[in-house]
Amino acid sequence: MAFNIEINGKPHTVDVDADTPLLWVLRDVIGMTGTKFGCGMALCGACTVHIDGVATRSCITSVHSIGESKVTTIEAIGATPAGAAIQKAWLDHQVVQCGYCQSGQIMSAAALLQSNPDPTDADIDNAMSGNICRCGTYVRIREAIKLAAQAGKQGG
Ligand code: FES
Ligand code: FES
Repeated sequence: MAFNIEINGKPHTVDVDADTPLLWVLRDVIGMTGTKFGCGMALCGACTVHIDGVATRSCITSVHSIGESKVTTIEAIGATPAGAAIQKAWLDHQVVQCGYCQSGQIMSAAALLQSNPDPTDADIDNAMSGNICRCGTYVRIREAIKLAAQAGKQGG
């Protein structure tokens, strides 16, 4: 079955079963491998993308449920102000260890800042609680989100 999906501002037509997860479409059909497979059960956050700006687990999101919604992935999040601020803060804080979880972490963090530019510690914990990092980069992630929020307040 053919589906038209807008991903990172570009239209894509994919011919897959209706219940195919968006993650498979991104990685295996379109070849965008920045979004990672971790658990396939909405438990780890590695597959997080934005759908109409909301952090969403692409491993459990069927392609037919997307409709006219706009999908944003790690490949394009740096083109948004929140995404750019998060990526800069990630580099400044040297957040990444093995890196496997980090696409999802950045997508969740960017969605948080887009909806809440000045998050409290509790807001950060709440927004990031579904993103697992087996390297334990949680402290640096929290500091980087705070740095990005601070930069936003200062206009930079
Ligand atoms: S792969 Fe989607 S939440 Fe783990
Ligand atoms: S950086 Fe290795 S799993 Fe998070």
